[in-house]
Amino acid sequence: MLSRIARRTFTSTAFNPYKVTVLGACGGIGQPLSLLMKLNEKVTDLRLYDIKNAKGVATDISHIPTNSTVNGFSAEESDGLTNALKNTDLVLIPAGVPRKPGMTRDDLFNINAGIVYDLATAAAKNTPNAAILVISNPVNSTVPIVAEVFKKNGVYNSKKLFGVTTLDSIRASRFISEIVKTDPTKEKINVIGGHSGITIIPLLSQTKYGNSLTKEQKDALIHRIQFGGDEVVKAKNGGGSATLSMAQAGAKFANAVLSGFAGEKNVIQPSYVDSPLFKNEGIEFFASPVTLGPDGIQEIHPIGEINAEESELLKECKETLKKNIDKGIKFADSKH
Ligand code: 2OP
Repeated sequence: MLSRIARRTFTSTAFNPYKVTVLGACGGIGQPLSLLMKLNEKVTDLRLYDIKNAKGVATDISHIPTNSTVNGFSAEESDGLTNALKNTDLVLIPAGVPRKPGMTRDDLFNINAGIVYDLATAAAKNTPNAAILVISNPVNSTVPIVAEVFKKNGVYNSKKLFGVTTLDSIRASRFISEIVKTDPTKEKINVIGGHSGITIIPLLSQTKYGNSLTKEQKDALIHRIQFGGDEVVKAKNGGGSATLSMAQAGAKFANAVLSGFAGEKNVIQPSYVDSPLFKNEGIEFFASPVTLGPDGIQEIHPIGEINAEESELLKECKETLKKNIDKGIKFADSKH
């Protein structure tokens, strides 16, 4: 009896074996993210890539007794990136440099845009059907860069490209719970727009606290959610930006995408995606809740009802977002 149960348990885990690649696996986000993916039972083949040291991190993580094998690949090997990506199911991209105090995410564009461009090119060539989850900032611009690269290579599938905005929702849950003294795990706020400053819009009017908080409380909360990343950058004082909470956010979103692949129903998470919501206004990418399924995005949900103040925030968000998106597209188009 016991062995039958054991066999069944094993079969159900092995039934959906997923290959996951982390590009930038040795960085501040990459290491904890790789650890969390090692703990994910849906993953059976975990590949860690970085400029160097990935074998060390991979060997370290590989001793954890979960179902996956872990291998490290480095830019020092001629086919390191190719082997890290070959026919993988999901690619997480945290690679790049983080912010220093006083910098916005957009200030990272010049360095990270090129890194993301090159990694996306390798992904398009080696694993065109994988879901690509972009963490490297500025996400508002790096996601359009990946889209352009996949288009150039003739393999673009908008249903499988995601900008990870989960950290904004995570922060929203935490920060509201600190004000209303509730369990943060039970708090859910719909955060839409993009992943940078004023492009992040938490829709407080859709929560039960929409009417109970004072205007001052709401304004302060919205500002804290929008600029929560700056709190970390400031506190780290030159040591970078959010890494551990970002890794948790990335792992949570990756798990949602894999759950969708596995056929789980009602898997809904916010994400910055190629979206029809404001395309008629020239905004190609927008974050809103998406239902994840076996082929990636199954449905992109509308933002729902918003109040006058939120409409104002949305207007400003769209103006900035459009510029961020155009910047990414222009950069990708300028490369040959
Ligand atoms: C954040 O702190 C790193 O973008 C990331 O929101």
